[in-house]
Amino acid sequence: MVNSDFVQQFNENGYAVIPNFLSDEEIVEMKKTMARIVDEMDPKEHSSHIFHLDDKTCKSRDEYFLTSNDKIRFFFEPKAVDQDGNLTVPKSRSVNKIGHALAWLEPVFKKITFGEKVKDVCRQLGHKDPRVVQSMYIFKNPVIGQKVSTHQDSTFLYTDPPSNLLGFWFALDDAAVENGCLYFLPGTQNVNPTSRFVRTPNPGTTGDLTMIRGVEPDYPLDQFKPAPVSKGSLVLIHGNVIHRSEDNTSDLPRHAYTFHVVDHHNAQYSKENWLQPSEALPFPKLYDVKV
Ligand code: FE2
Repeated sequence: MVNSDFVQQFNENGYAVIPNFLSDEEIVEMKKTMARIVDEMDPKEHSSHIFHLDDKTCKSRDEYFLTSNDKIRFFFEPKAVDQDGNLTVPKSRSVNKIGHALAWLEPVFKKITFGEKVKDVCRQLGHKDPRVVQSMYIFKNPVIGQKVSTHQDSTFLYTDPPSNLLGFWFALDDAAVENGCLYFLPGTQNVNPTSRFVRTPNPGTTGDLTMIRGVEPDYPLDQFKPAPVSKGSLVLIHGNVIHRSEDNTSDLPRHAYTFHVVDHHNAQYSKENWLQPSEALPFPKLYDVKV
């Protein structure tokens, strides 16, 4: 059973850190699996899919991105790919993230995601029917790993009511200010999102498959609190809590595995969200999957 100290921390701040959640063996296994996946990837097949976090036009969010819910797909660092799609850095450092069905398709990640400890965390937070909606491996590689600007996860994975989304974020390296740890605006879990990242209802001639509806307010950067954590820590992130991270300008990696659950007992997952379940992979019910 996971020590329940995190519940109060989570309810007060909208996030909580549980140190030593993963064992060293689990981390080694996850990293080894990911190194193999990257090694086997042919950049020519995937490298046109660059992850532009600040691309407000959303032109980089194409079919490859939209249909990644039941696949393992690669999204590259903008600085890692030239205009012709060739890599400018070694393949092992070129990827920004891989998503969005690792939890289902890769046994190592499935074992962690549907393990008893994760189920226990959800039970302690009162989730009745949590379902896993997406999973990702985030590289934030040395020197090239780009920042993630201020956001709420509920902008991207909106639920009605908008407070039933929970992020699990596992540090696979020590994450400090120097290599791009998370920063939070504590206590903002009750702030409902003012913008939504959705599939464009009628793409028409623009061809833009996704759009941002609404406007995100500017938040005071000096009020964010860094959350440095040691390798193996789990950071729980309320879907509404406002957070961000900086570039990794250091020579240290900052790998993380992350997934999100929605408690379907109390909430509806929005059909407008960019990410939708498919026939091949409906959102798996966390408590029903045995590993
Ligand atoms: Fe986030």
